[in-house]
Amino acid sequence: MSDTFAPAAVLVTGGAGFIGSNFIHNFMAGNPDCRVVNLDILTYAGNLKNLRAVQDNPHYRFVKGDICDAPLVAQLLAEEKIDAVLHFAAESHVDRSITGPEIFVRTNVLGTQTLLEASRAHAATRPAFRYLQVSTDEVYGSLGSEGFFTEETPLAPNSPYSASKAGADLLVRAYFETFRLPTLNTRCSNNYGPYHFPEKLIPLMIHNIMEKKALPVYGDGLNVRDWLHVKDHSAAIERVLKQGKPGEVYNIGGNNEWRNIDIVHLVCDLMDERLGRAAGESRKLITFVKDRPGHDRRYAIDAAKTKRELGWGPSYTFERGIAETIDWYLANQEWVTEIVSGSYREYYQQQYGA
Ligand code: NAD
Ligand code: TYD
Repeated sequence: MSDTFAPAAVLVTGGAGFIGSNFIHNFMAGNPDCRVVNLDILTYAGNLKNLRAVQDNPHYRFVKGDICDAPLVAQLLAEEKIDAVLHFAAESHVDRSITGPEIFVRTNVLGTQTLLEASRAHAATRPAFRYLQVSTDEVYGSLGSEGFFTEETPLAPNSPYSASKAGADLLVRAYFETFRLPTLNTRCSNNYGPYHFPEKLIPLMIHNIMEKKALPVYGDGLNVRDWLHVKDHSAAIERVLKQGKPGEVYNIGGNNEWRNIDIVHLVCDLMDERLGRAAGESRKLITFVKDRPGHDRRYAIDAAKTKRELGWGPSYTFERGIAETIDWYLANQEWVTEIVSGSYREYYQQQYGA
């Protein structure tokens, strides 16, 4: 299928985070003439070191700012003649949403509404404009041992994080239905890969194994997640942006279900090999801890629509993806250490102020 949309300038929000930065790398490599403006407030999860490879590219501009700042968003859309908004920015960690839900509503719901409203005004001057909402399979809630989430599955979020993402998705739907803003909505399963913040399962385990620290597994460890390499997610988003039909939702997933405990075992074994430790040594660090409240049991995505209509499919096998990811973390220990020590934040504080 050929592309129907070829933007000359895009606004990426949250491009200093895990998925946004991977998307920018991939997108700029494949679209060297397209201008990319990255709007990111640099929360604890945003890190400009993720973007060193593009920071001097003349087609790239970083703006430190808030997606809830309506005048700033309107100014950027107009002055950069933006053809598409790709909205990645979010508070993204389920555990943080349990201890402090308010910021999730502000950033994920109000931030999305601010972008939609600015996009609505801007789209009136640029008829080919598109708005793409990056969302998650967690909006569908939890599955039992059978079945898959399709785009028709009713939204039934269980955590403050997934509820805020579902609220945002419903606003996206409303802006299409009410205002005919050309929106696209992707919903993806759990991502893994480089630049993943070390509070999430896979990078946390890699880091703790390095440090010989306890590996906290929630509950019985039998919760299931469907893992997709972040580069495959990025490619899918680009495909939806260029070929997707406005008003539609597209599920993205790797058909790659793993129980948490099995992933932790796998990471332990691959790390032992690489660190020259005895087989089984890191598994001894596994510690079962109190379960996450409202912990969704199983996620599994049916991505048949995205494959059928847009010709997208994952390119990474899990075997290759997880091995490359572990090797990336081992080769980039300074990146992890700076995050864990907080020194990267002190730098931004000095550089940009509060
Ligand atoms: P992340 O936490 O790594 O990055 C989020 C980025 O958003 C950070 O750079 C942060 O500074 C920025 N941000 C937060 N609040 C902001 C604000 N008010 N204004 C501007 N920037 C702000 O998140 P991620 O894992 O890269 O996820 C990106 C998107 O993908 C999110 O919308 C998330 O819901 C979605 N998603 C994530 C996964 C996953 O497995 N990580 C899976 C499916 C969907
Ligand atoms: P996470 O990476 O936080 O992603 P999400 O909650 O969005 O799926 O967690 C993935 C799974 O791993 C989830 O079932 C919770 C579990 N988990 C642990 O068992 N221990 C941990 O320390 C973390 C962070 C997660």
